[in-house]
Amino acid sequence: MEDIELLNNTFDLYMKKGKEAKEKGNYALAKRNFMLAGETMMKIAKVSQGKLKEVRLNRAKRIVELSERIGLEKEKKKEEKGEDEEDEVKKWQQAQIPNIHFSDVAGLDDVKKAIKIRMINPILYPDKYKLYNKKTGGGVLLYGPPGTGKTMIAKAIACEVGAKFYAVKGSDIVSKWVGESEQNINSLFEEANKQDRSIIFIDEMDSLLGKRGQDIHNDKRVNEFLQQIDGFAGRNPNLLLLGATNRPWDIDSAATRSGRFSQKIYIPLPDEKARKFMLEKNMKNVPVSKNFDIDKIVKQTELYSGADIEELCDRAKDEPLLKAIETDSVIEVTNKDFDNILKIFPPSVTESELKKFADYNNEIDSLIKNRRKKK
Ligand SMILES: Nc1ncnc2c1ncn2[C@@H]1O[C@H](COP(=O)(O)OP(=O)(O)O)[C@@H](O)[C@H]1O
Ligand SMILES: [Mg+2]
Repeated sequence: MEDIELLNNTFDLYMKKGKEAKEKGNYALAKRNFMLAGETMMKIAKVSQGKLKEVRLNRAKRIVELSERIGLEKEKKKEEKGEDEEDEVKKWQQAQIPNIHFSDVAGLDDVKKAIKIRMINPILYPDKYKLYNKKTGGGVLLYGPPGTGKTMIAKAIACEVGAKFYAVKGSDIVSKWVGESEQNINSLFEEANKQDRSIIFIDEMDSLLGKRGQDIHNDKRVNEFLQQIDGFAGRNPNLLLLGATNRPWDIDSAATRSGRFSQKIYIPLPDEKARKFMLEKNMKNVPVSKNFDIDKIVKQTELYSGADIEELCDRAKDEPLLKAIETDSVIEVTNKDFDNILKIFPPSVTESELKKFADYNNEIDSLIKNRRKKK
């Protein structure tokens, strides 16, 4: 019979070594030590009596199970991570040309014109741009309240020039920003660079390119990302760089320097004409009452974003649709249906948010004016 005290000491030692190895990430060593600890506990159980024997047997089993799981957990993590990253790269490689045209975007005529001059025509008419010695290149930052069509415009640009559309979200990159995701960003730029025409669209730019000087992780990220931009953008006129943000004041000013996201374009809430266009589009071919007055809804929806209008129309259809199912007939949508929803569904963009944009735009305006004065 083995000395129980010796067995107990041996058990303690294996457990200690196992824990240490696990903490250091040496899972193979941890696994072996826990396995030995389990076996030792089994020996201790065998020489024990009654209730104590049962308790020790269970403990031995639990430790053996634990040791088996260590290996599995690690394998699983590795697998998941590997797949994740592969998926991401695959997703980029499968980037497609979107099917949203400029004509689908309501209003924003000035914005469309600026984008045509800056991004679309240089690609479609390179000879003309050469003839006039027009400057090209550099990224564009679309900013404005949420739901105003920034993502939509980015896709429409890709569609108009026949470019592959590579979209990434700032927050996604940040949450995965460890060694490998730098690599992923690099491979994204490389992949996009290989195409005849491509657009890299970075949504939520503020979370990726926040102001430096407050958080070292952010600073490191900003520096690295700016390097990527400098390395690729501008060298290939057929690789366009587009960003979007609802919080332009949070972006580091180095990101909007010349050669980077140097042109900032404000995407405002839709005006009356744009709202009418969207309402008509959303109600197209839908049964509406004879005296359905779309202009009334246009007036009622000041400060509603494009996304709000889409949701409003969708919700206004709910009641008539329900009734139509219940009565197995066609029930027309009326202005009353819209009134009912409008009462409970205020615009998603608040006035204080709008004021922030107004202040920001004023700041930019006065900066430009000052610069002109100096010249
Ligand atoms: N100017 C617009 N023209 C047409 N639809 C719009 C417009 N703005 C918003 N929408 C609708 O709202 C949805 C959300 O818009 P999105 O482009 O994602 O907004 P943002 O990127 O500015 O937050 C779009 O898919 C579209 O259906
Ligand atoms: Mg968007």
